[in-house]
Amino acid sequence: MLSSRIVGTGSHVPERVLTNADLEKLVDTSDEWIVTRTGIAERHVASDEEATSDLAYRAAQSALCAAGTDVLDLDMILVATVTPDMPFPSTACLLQDRLGARRAGALDLSAACSGFLYGLAVADGLVRSGSARTVLLVGAETLTKVVNWKDRNTCVLFGDGAGAVVLRGQEGERGILSTHLYADGGRGQLLIIPGGGSRHPVSQAVVDDGSAKIQMNGGNEVFKLAVRAMEDAALTALKAHGLDVKDIDHLISHQANLRIINALGQRLGVPDHKVIANLQRVGNTSAASIPIALDEAVRDGRVKAGDLVLLCAFGGGLTWASCLIRW
Ligand code: ACO
Repeated sequence: MLSSRIVGTGSHVPERVLTNADLEKLVDTSDEWIVTRTGIAERHVASDEEATSDLAYRAAQSALCAAGTDVLDLDMILVATVTPDMPFPSTACLLQDRLGARRAGALDLSAACSGFLYGLAVADGLVRSGSARTVLLVGAETLTKVVNWKDRNTCVLFGDGAGAVVLRGQEGERGILSTHLYADGGRGQLLIIPGGGSRHPVSQAVVDDGSAKIQMNGGNEVFKLAVRAMEDAALTALKAHGLDVKDIDHLISHQANLRIINALGQRLGVPDHKVIANLQRVGNTSAASIPIALDEAVRDGRVKAGDLVLLCAFGGGLTWASCLIRW
């Protein structure tokens, strides 16, 4: 049976590091509060000159190199992002041009922190249907450009970065086993950037009232929803393949809060040593968070051929998702 296998991973974060001590100078917060409530110690921040496609380009180059894939073999480029360089051309088109991937189609996907798993579902569908043989999927964000630096509820959470994978259609047992996607638009107000789109176009008023920046209306509610939704999505994925929690070798969930990551692991019964977390160093990078963590774990040898990898995401929309991969 044809399945889509991840044959290369890559990631990139901007050079500039913003520590919790730096944030103490911006808002009424403390390193102690941020570390105990979120687990985050520092995050990377794009410079004024760096846009999302710049980070995506570096991550993509790294994944293509790891995969040994020529850019001219790419049939499709997908970029999951809620912080595109501009409404159009899409960030995927900007990336296609910069890579010189002349044969590839290009498309952006918007599902906030679940964007990478939604992208895996689209890529997997294209490959399995025979529409594409080789797909580049990048999760890339510069959320610090849409953060309200006066809002301590949100500005301590986010960072910038990009993670990429190259998927190729191959016969055999290894590859994406399945993806499971969910949404609840009725609760979209919980995590929102209300201004700057067609509902409230860019204007002086939108700039002045801060509505083109991230707003989180009830972090605690989001926290509880995230744990429950990812647990459900994880169990659905395992059940679909007759697998048990003990079969999982690695759990990589969206990196929003270390307490969410640990609560999910505990509820599922996945031991700590199988739970991968890197948000201590990078913060919440939305659609980039899972592919950055995955790339690190592949490169340092934790994720090995034959391992069962469970990915879970939750984010704005609301959206959530799971994906099982036989590596
Ligand atoms: N420094 C100090 N105090 C703070 C800070 C801060 N940076 N931020 C909030 N506080 C205060 C609050 O004002 C509140 O004070 P009060 O009790 O006097 O009102 C107190 O800390 C506790 O606030 P809570 O919201 O109850 O804190 P909680 O423990 O829930 O942690 C957090 C907040 C970190 C936001 C957590 O709820 C969380 O991680 N939520 C989920 C976020 C998430 O999953 N996002 C995923 C998607 S993001 C996307 O899609 C773009």
